Amino acid sequence: SSDQTIATPRRRLLITGVPPQKVIDRAEASFDVTLWREPTPIGARLAGEAQGHDAVLVMPGDKLDAACIGALPRSVQVLATYSVGFDHIDLAAATARRLPVFNTPDVLTESVADLALFLILAAARDTTSAERTLREGRWGPWAPTSMLGRSLQDQRLGIFGMGRIGQAIARRALAFGMQLHYHNRSRLPAEREAGAVFHDTLEGMLAQSDVLCICAPSTPELRNAVDARRVACLPRGAMVVNVARGDLVDEPALFAAVHEGRVGAIGFDVYRNEPRIDPRWLDLPHATLLPHIGSATTEVRTAMGMTALDGVESHFAGRPAANLLNP
Ligand code: DGY
Repeated sequence: SSDQTIATPRRRLLITGVPPQKVIDRAEASFDVTLWREPTPIGARLAGEAQGHDAVLVMPGDKLDAACIGALPRSVQVLATYSVGFDHIDLAAATARRLPVFNTPDVLTESVADLALFLILAAARDTTSAERTLREGRWGPWAPTSMLGRSLQDQRLGIFGMGRIGQAIARRALAFGMQLHYHNRSRLPAEREAGAVFHDTLEGMLAQSDVLCICAPSTPELRNAVDARRVACLPRGAMVVNVARGDLVDEPALFAAVHEGRVGAIGFDVYRNEPRIDPRWLDLPHATLLPHIGSATTEVRTAMGMTALDGVESHFAGRPAANLLNP
């Protein structure tokens, strides 16, 4: 009869982690949502768990290589990642399978830049060692030469990668009185340079960097970009900060430089092989080490989820979306 309607089945979305509740609510308004709630990454179980799903939203710790993408069930029509970085996804393999992939640019830029400044300050003042001194009951009387760091004023900051995050770091560093240098694939228009001096080679910039801040994307060409030869270009005692990806750095080369005092202090948020990082990290002096928390604020993680969902929904609605990685 006329009052009977045929319910169209709702699309199904698999999310390989548990987002903030607001993101879950928004996802459930449009999709039948399956959440991977295990504390370990979904790993090889992705293909099986994705059976019957139309869309999959993955975490940056999920490795979607060509084999993994090839094994996805045919029901899956779209992928999104809960990250701006997409080095964990074989984009060519996804494109070959005609799978659009969406990421979460812009919304995390300012919070990652905040954390970069935190790490620059932590390295310059060696706050981790100072705090340890207090916590371990070793705090002695005030002395003119104890626990000395360096002022940021007039220090030269070398920004490796002047994308959205690099530019946000530059804006902050200017307020601290730092002198800015940058190396990027190409020179930026002057209005986006924040007064920074452009270097067309990484080596050239490193020679001018009291602090190196790594914020370039992890691409095959940039893997190991900061290797022994390049670390040796830094002025003696320079500081190194990384908020991008661990594989931009040759870690053993960095460890040697820190132990020899050629690198004076480091502030890292990212590593190779997270979360099972090389145990030698833990033996480094003058090191502030954070567990990949650049985007970890409630506001940003909510906004990242919404941006990923915008992408997935735009695909099904046939609307263009700016965060499509393989148009
Ligand atoms: C990203 O978005 O790529 C971050 O590294 C994850 O927080």
